[in-house]
Parts: sequence; structure tokens; C-alpha cells
Amino acid sequence: MNNELQHIYELGEGLETLDRIKARIDGLNLRYFIETYGCQMNEHDSEKIAGMLVRAGYTKAETKQDADLILFNTCCVREHAEKRTFGNVGFIKELKQINPRLILGVCGCMMQQREVANRLFARFPFVDLIFGTHELKNFPAMLENCLDKKRVFNVSDSDGEVIEGLPVERNAGFSTFVNIMYGCNNFCTYCIVPYVRGRERSRKPEDILNEVRSVVAGGYSEVTLLGQNVNSYSCDGMDFPRLLTLISNEVPELKRLRFMTSHPKDLSPELIMAMAQLDNVCKHIHLPVQSGSDSILKKMNRRYTTADYLKIVDELRQNVPFVEITTDIIVGFPGETEEDFQATLDLVKKVGYSNAYTFAYSPREGTVAARMEDQIPDEEKKRRLNKLNAVLAETIPENNEKYIGYSGEILVEGVDHRGEPLLFGKLSNFKMVYVEGDESLVGSFVDIKVDGFRFNSLFGHIAN
Ligand code: SAH
Ligand code: SF4
Ligand code: F3S
Repeated sequence: MNNELQHIYELGEGLETLDRIKARIDGLNLRYFIETYGCQMNEHDSEKIAGMLVRAGYTKAETKQDADLILFNTCCVREHAEKRTFGNVGFIKELKQINPRLILGVCGCMMQQREVANRLFARFPFVDLIFGTHELKNFPAMLENCLDKKRVFNVSDSDGEVIEGLPVERNAGFSTFVNIMYGCNNFCTYCIVPYVRGRERSRKPEDILNEVRSVVAGGYSEVTLLGQNVNSYSCDGMDFPRLLTLISNEVPELKRLRFMTSHPKDLSPELIMAMAQLDNVCKHIHLPVQSGSDSILKKMNRRYTTADYLKIVDELRQNVPFVEITTDIIVGFPGETEEDFQATLDLVKKVGYSNAYTFAYSPREGTVAARMEDQIPDEEKKRRLNKLNAVLAETIPENNEKYIGYSGEILVEGVDHRGEPLLFGKLSNFKMVYVEGDESLVGSFVDIKVDGFRFNSLFGHIAN
């Protein structure tokens, strides 16, 4: 990708607007509540919106009832989301009657679909603010207009740009996100993301590096680099394996560096070598396969075959000890025959995933697959989904045998109180481990030894 074509936008002026709002609402004790749907991309966008709100003098509300600004950050990757969003928005009408200064906003991928945004705007006159995914940089001005009691509708057809200088209010914890790129150029035929997130664009390596340094200085010990397809990162002559190497070497204090999502068609041998050689790069890869049938993969426009995929899996396993692979799978894509579906089950058994997110194909308006013939009936999709999940429930635990007696290190994330209190945390390869131990260990790295397993989790003890 040619970086010169890319528009990099600095928030500068927006920050002044936020400071002006802060002076204006001083003493009012205004609070915000953001409800986020969808993937990490949306979660991280919500952290950026929260960052702007905090800069503008807002504090976080614990519930919607306590909030003076409620924002729904929506997803539209599958169909049912729309009904739920309209329902959630409708429910806020009552709250607006109780708190007349309450501002209600809806943003995110679903609002980037202009017809849906129009419909929501017309149907709910009490919605104050609607904006699409390319409008984060205009949030300060939109907020100011809302405070002036204007209704704001801001959905642009831009392909998107790279926005730098946004304040971020990161969720508490030990692990956080850093965007390396935005958008997607792949147009898998089932997928709405390229239509609502714009074209692929990569951030500059030095901007990424500075952000990683600053979150590490802020106490985070794990960073996940985010992109719809991180393997096609490209900026200033740098590709993804080189970027990973750069961050790993330049920020050695960072204990764990993760990334997602990897598209199999762009996964290079260099990336596998980087994973093998760089200690702080985690030994986990989320590698969505989507289907185990070559003809379905072709119709999906995935641009790899099952043989290509299995070759990558082999190379990963040969070069990266105890590497774990997770995936996404869609069943019931248009024209998927029983043999195609069986091929998916066979592939799942062959790969030995440590976890998988499985979906029934959901037609999205505007995508190529939605117009394909031979749409599979809902009942059949459900049957295939259940069958696939049953096969996964068998294969995932099989994959755990090799961990009996295994020694490794977990980052303790919290205490599970469902039974006897147990600390839980992940290995570098994303396997969850439960051990007995003191609550004071939450947030630290602890050496463990594995004694057993249940489904996709491991159980063990702290090793001294
Ligand atoms: N960029 C990422 C994530 C895309 S969305 C990637 O390429 O993997 C996350 C997952 O949702 C996809 O991997 C796919 O399995 C699923 N998905 C996307 N569109 C879908 C649709 N129309 N119906 C069902 N599942 C879908
Ligand atoms: Fe969607 Fe495919 Fe892009 Fe992933 S790579 S976001 S599945 S179009
Ligand atoms: Fe993510 Fe959903 Fe948008 S999966 S990119 S929030 S459509």
C-alpha cells in the first residue's frame, strides 16, 4: 500500500474543543456510559471515545441509570444484532424522561450502514447523536453540538483515514490494545466489515512504537496489536514480521506481545520465524479458517486452499514449540453441501485447535454471498453448527493431553469464585490455567505446573 496516499489526521483542534467543553460543564458532574458490541476493534474505539469524554470532564457511570450520556457502539457482522440494538435504544426513552439532560448516541459499524442509521434516526426522535466509524475525529464537535441541544447525524462515505493523537481511556487490567491498522481490503464474500470499516490503512511504525512504550510505562504487561488482517500491515517499507521484531526489540520491558487477526493468505514464513525467535511474542495465533472445503473457500473469496492452510499449521507446529491455534468457522454458507460440511469437520480434527468461534452463516445486505443461490435453511445451519460444536468439544480436550506435567508461566488475571477460589491466567499461547494461590498474585507472572484439564482449560499448581 502506498502510504503517501493516506491521510493522517491529528486530533489537535478537537482537543481544544474538549477543553472548552470541560470548562463549560465544570461542576455539573456529568457521567458517561458506553455499551460496546462486536470485536476488539469496537472495544478499542470505545476506549478512545471514553478518552475524549474524560478529557472533556466526564466521569464513568456505573449504570445507564446514572449516566448523562449513553452511547451504544454497535456491530453488524451478523443479522440479529439490529433487532437488539433497536430494542436497546427504545428502552432509553424512559431514562430520558427521568433525566432531561441525558444525551443518547449510537455509533459503530451498524451506523456506518447509512440506511440503518437513517431508519434509527427517523424511528427514535429522542436519539441525539448518530455517527459512523470514520467520525471519531469529529466526536468533540459533535458532543459540543449535542450539549447545545442540536440533533447530530454524521455518517460519511469516506474510505477512512488514520487518526493520531486521540486520548484513550483504557479498560483496567494488565492487557491492552494498540491498533496497527484499520479497515479491510479482502472482501470475503460473506463479510460486511470492508463496507463499514473502509479501506486498509496502516499506522506509522513510530506512532505504534510510541503508543506501545506509553502503555508499558503505564503498567500494562501485555499488548495486543489489532488489525482485521495484521499480515497485510505495510507502512514506510515495513511489513508485519518486521514491525513485530521492531516492537519486540525496542520495548524489551513488554512481557507479552500478541496480535490479531491473521489472514492465512498473507501469513509469511518470516512471521513464523519471528514468533519462534522473539521471546516476548506470544506463541498463539488466531487463524480463521472459515471452512474446510476448497470450493466453499473459493466462493468465500478467501484465496487459500485447505492444503495451504494445513501447510501453515505444520510449519507453525514445527518451528514454535507449544504453539496454539484458534480459529473462526462459518457453517451453512450458500451452496455448502453435506460433503463440504464434512470436510470442515475433518479439517477441525486434523488441526487440533485450542479453541474455535463458530457461526451459522448470516446473510448481510450488500455482500456478494447474500445474493448467491442455494441459501441454506436456518434449521440446517443450526444442525451443522451443533454438530461442529460437538466435534470441537471432543477434539479440544484431546489437545490438552500434552500439557500434563508441563511447566510454564501465566499472567494472573483474577480469582474465579465459582467453586473453591482459584487464580486464573493465561500461558503465552493463550491456554487458560487455574491454580490455587493468593489473591495478591493478581497482575503478576507466576510459574506453574499443569496437573490436569477440563474442556479447554488447564489445572495445576504454582511451581516453586
Ligand atoms: N478480520 C477478522 C474478523 C472478521 S469478523 C477476520 O478476517 O478473521 C469475525 C468472524 O465473524 C469472521 O472470522 C467470520 O467467521 C464471522 N463472520 C463474518 N461475517 C459473517 C457472516 N456474514 N455470517 C456468519 N459469520 C460471519
Ligand atoms: Fe471480513 Fe474477510 Fe476482511 Fe476478515 S478478512 S474482516 S472476514 S472481509
Ligand atoms: Fe467488529 Fe462487528 Fe465492526 S465484528 S469491525 S464491530 S461489524
